[in-house]
Amino acid sequence: MASKLLSPLFPWLIILTLLLISLYSSILPFHTPSSSSSNPLREKIHTLPTCNFFKGHWVMDPNRRPIYDETCPFHRNAWNCLRNQRDNMGRINSWKWVPETCDLPRIDPFRFLGRMRNRNIGFVGDSLNENFLVSFLCVLRVADKGAKKWKKKGAWRGAYFPKFNVTVAYHRAVLLAKYEWQPKQTSDGNHDGLKGIYRVDVDIPAADWASIADFYDVLVFNTGHWWGFDKFPKETPLVFYRAGQPIVPPLNMLDGLKLVLENMASYVQKDLPSKTLKFWRLQSPRHFYGGDWNQNGSCMFNDPLEELQLDLWFDPRNKAVNTEARILNRLIKDAVQGTEIQLLDLTHLSEFRADAHPAVWLGKKDAVAIWGQDCMHWCLPGVPDTWVDILSQLIQIGLKTE
Ligand SMILES: *[C@@H]1O[C@H](CO)[C@@H](O)[C@H](O)[C@H]1NC(C)=O
Ligand SMILES: *[C@@H]1O[C@H](CO)[C@@H](O)[C@H](O)[C@H]1NC(C)=O
Repeated sequence: MASKLLSPLFPWLIILTLLLISLYSSILPFHTPSSSSSNPLREKIHTLPTCNFFKGHWVMDPNRRPIYDETCPFHRNAWNCLRNQRDNMGRINSWKWVPETCDLPRIDPFRFLGRMRNRNIGFVGDSLNENFLVSFLCVLRVADKGAKKWKKKGAWRGAYFPKFNVTVAYHRAVLLAKYEWQPKQTSDGNHDGLKGIYRVDVDIPAADWASIADFYDVLVFNTGHWWGFDKFPKETPLVFYRAGQPIVPPLNMLDGLKLVLENMASYVQKDLPSKTLKFWRLQSPRHFYGGDWNQNGSCMFNDPLEELQLDLWFDPRNKAVNTEARILNRLIKDAVQGTEIQLLDLTHLSEFRADAHPAVWLGKKDAVAIWGQDCMHWCLPGVPDTWVDILSQLIQIGLKTE
């Protein structure tokens, strides 16, 4: 009799139990003590996702299209490859970067700018960071056609996005440290046809960015492409100073770079607000083939390089034309290690893309005859759009813990 009465109740008892369990477990998280940290940045570094956006491969996706075109008002003529009618632009922009262990979503400019409301992003460094910036501005403008050119506070170029009250700008500081031209003094003697020197104060950041760094919530640094004898030949060399005095014995260029990197990384770490999200971009590789930029080097490639070709092109042991990128990267990694600055390691993914430089399509009749091909900067739209996808992911991850 009793069992007859209980049996129809039994399933309901189970359901009730399950309901209670699920109710309890949904309340539970509120009672677990949350680990509180005084420094949100330190916590963030530990909570970075396991996905490594920097390792992967390029996959052809014929349906992929760039999200801006040649009419973007922020273009620089020489990189506006659609307008300059570079061959293969459709193909160049059909390659999709696929990280090994996750998917790299494409930036959603509306959501991203919404997330960045009332915040500012700054790029500091050489023209390769300007290349990066132009891509970013053209991508973001999709979400705010009212974007205006912005040039305050010494910015080299930038844009203000009024719908979101966001500024994104570039401050040119090719060596990051302060440097200035000093014509030859009579005491310098008359060796090597010296015309003067560029004095580099390794411990003083260039005013072009140090004075405005507080304006930004996110900063992306780079230096590298100016550290060569084509920019600073022996007639007009770099001479390194510290604490206002010339360093003796004088440093060669790479040792000087090392010291500048250490000093600038330490300045960024110590003197910028700790809430500022800080990135350091590794070298953008060049793809001069058959000679350097001033020896008729060219990059008329239709496809990315194969993985197996990369070491041939870029391993310093092979003493090829473009191997400086990996050498500089080692110095940069050493200098940034142990700081809160995140490395933006875009080198490897870019090494593949011999096909994506402006090459001879520079938009000016005599440019190639005078300057040679451009196998250093990137066509836009193009590879820097993938840099933007990655940076925007890392910014959103970085801001989450605030
Ligand atoms: C715009 O953003 C800045 C920070 O960059 C903030 O100081 C200012 O109050 C914001 N303006 C408006 C109208 O919200
Ligand atoms: C580059 O090419 C031009 C024209 O073909 C030639 O006159 C010049 O000697 C070449 N320069 C070098 C460094 O090979």
